[in-house]
Amino acid sequence: MRRQHLKQGGGGGITRMMIKLSVSVLVLVICTVSFLFSSTITTSVQSNYRTEIHLEELWSGANSGGWRPSSVPRSHWPPPPNESNGYLRVRCNGGLNQQRSAISNAVLAARIMNATLVLPELDANSFWHDDSGFHGIYDVEYFIKTLKNDVRIVESFPEIVKNGKKKKIKAFQLRPPRDAPISWYTSVALEKMKEHGAIYLTPFSHRLAEEIDVAEYQRLRCRVNYHALRFKPHIMKLSQSIVNKLRAQGHFMSIHLRFEMDMLAFAGCFDIFTPEEQQVLRKYRDENFAPKRLVYNERRAIGKCPLTPEEVGLILRSMGFDNATKIYLAAGELFGGDRFMKPFRSLFPNLENHNSVEPSDELAENTRGLAGSAVDYLVCLHSDIFMPTYDGPSNFANNLLGHRLYEGFRTTIRPDRKALAPIFIDRENGKTAGFEEAIRRAMLTTNFGGAHKRVTPESFYTNSWPECFCKLSPDNSADRCPSNDS
Ligand SMILES: *[C@@H]1O[C@H](CO)[C@@H](O)[C@H](O)[C@H]1NC(C)=O
Ligand SMILES: *[C@@H]1O[C@H](CO)[C@@H](O)[C@H](O)[C@H]1NC(C)=O
Ligand SMILES: *[C@@H]1O[C@H](CO)[C@@H](O)[C@H](O)[C@H]1NC(C)=O
Repeated sequence: MRRQHLKQGGGGGITRMMIKLSVSVLVLVICTVSFLFSSTITTSVQSNYRTEIHLEELWSGANSGGWRPSSVPRSHWPPPPNESNGYLRVRCNGGLNQQRSAISNAVLAARIMNATLVLPELDANSFWHDDSGFHGIYDVEYFIKTLKNDVRIVESFPEIVKNGKKKKIKAFQLRPPRDAPISWYTSVALEKMKEHGAIYLTPFSHRLAEEIDVAEYQRLRCRVNYHALRFKPHIMKLSQSIVNKLRAQGHFMSIHLRFEMDMLAFAGCFDIFTPEEQQVLRKYRDENFAPKRLVYNERRAIGKCPLTPEEVGLILRSMGFDNATKIYLAAGELFGGDRFMKPFRSLFPNLENHNSVEPSDELAENTRGLAGSAVDYLVCLHSDIFMPTYDGPSNFANNLLGHRLYEGFRTTIRPDRKALAPIFIDRENGKTAGFEEAIRRAMLTTNFGGAHKRVTPESFYTNSWPECFCKLSPDNSADRCPSNDS
C-alpha cells in the first residue's frame, strides 16, 4: 500500500461544480420523500454511549467526563543537553496531515537521540504540485521557540570549517523501517549520527512507532502537533474569517467528503461509475497502488468503500438533521461530479465551501496545495460538528479527529461503514421499511467525540487520550493536572 499517493483534502473545483448543479431534482425527491418525514427516534438499543440521538447535545459538544487537554511534562523533563549527538534531518512525505504527524515524530526522534533537529523538509504535494514547504505553511519562529525546552532546532545545516574550508555538513542517508521502535533510533541511527555528524532520514512518514509506553514522549508529540505547529498568519486569518461568516447565523457542521479519485481508486470501489469513469479509476489504481483483487460488492459489504454523498446525506437526515443545516464541505475535486452531489444537495441545500464563503483573490491564490488544505483543516477544526466520510490511515480526517478531541471533545460523527453497509444495500434492494431506524441504531453505537480508549488500529494522532489529558480532581493521582498547566 503506498499511502503517500493519497492526496489530502482541500483544493478547488467545488464551486464550479456547485454552479453546475441544477436546482430541481424531482426524481430524487420522489425516491427519498418517504424517508424525510418518518417517525422520531424510538430506539432503545444497548449502547455504551447513549440510547437516543439528541441533536442539541451533538451541537454543543461531547461530554468531557472531567478531562481537559494537557501536554506539559508531568515528571522530570530536563532541557536538551548542551552537547548534541549530531544533526537530524528528515523528509516528510505525503499530504498536509501525514506530514504533520511526521513532524511530530521527527521532534520526538530528535529528543530521544539528543540530536539537533534541522527544520523538517515537507515534500512538495505530489497531487497539487505545491512547493510551499515548512516556511510557507507554518510559523517557523513560533515552532522553534515553543519547543525550546524539548529539542534544539535549526533552520538549516550550519557551515563547518574543515581544513580551513567552509562547507555544509554532509548527512548520511538512511531509510528507517516503518514504525521503527525507539531502539532503532538509539542504536542504528545514533551510531551513524555519531559517525557522520548528521543523518538524513527519508522517506519519513510512519517511521516511529505510534504506541510508545512512555507518556512523556507521547505528550511531547501533543506539544508539537497541537501547540508548536501553528499555521502562518494569513492562513489563520482566512480560516477565521470563513468560520465567522459560517457562524454568523448559528452553528455549522463540516464534512470531509472523501469522494475523490485517488481514494476511490485506492479503495477499489468502481461499479457505481460509468465505464469511462471506471477506466480512469483503474488507470490511477494501476499506476499508484499495488495490484489487489477487488470486488465491489465484497468491498462495500465490509465497509471498505467511501460513503457516497447521498449516503452521507441519508445518514444525517436519519439522525434528524433538517434541510436548514449549514454544512461546510471540505473536499478536493469530487469524482463523478454532478450526479453524485445532486442527491446530497437536495437533502441539504445549505452547502458551502471555502470558495463560496470567501470568494476573494487572496483565497484563489491560497487554496491550492497545502495552504488550501490548511484552510479546510482549520475550518473543520472549529466547526461545531465534524463528519469524516472515510477515515483511512493517516489522513486529513484522522488528525482532525485527534485535534478536535484535544480542543475539548468537540463533536464528531464517525459513521461505522461496516455496520451501515448492509442497511444501504437493503435499501437498494427495495427494503426501505425501517431504514432510518436502522441507520440510527448503527449510529448510536459510534462515538461522538468523547474520551474513549484507543484500540489499535486507531492511531495516537487520532486519539491521544489519556496521555495528553488530565483531570483537576481525579480519582487516580496519575491523572491529576500538573500545577503549571491549569
Ligand atoms: C549548558 O549551557 C548553559 C549556557 O550556555 C550553561 O549555563 C549550563 O551550565 C550548561 N550546562 C551544562 C550541563 O554544561
Ligand atoms: C541524552 O541526554 C540525557 C541527559 O543528558 C542522557 O541521560 C541520555 O542518556 C542521552 N541519550 C542519548 C541517546 O544520548
Ligand atoms: C425544507 O424542508 C421543508 C419541510 O420540512 C420544506 O417545506 C422546505 O421547502 C425545504 N426547504 C428547502 C430549501 O428544500
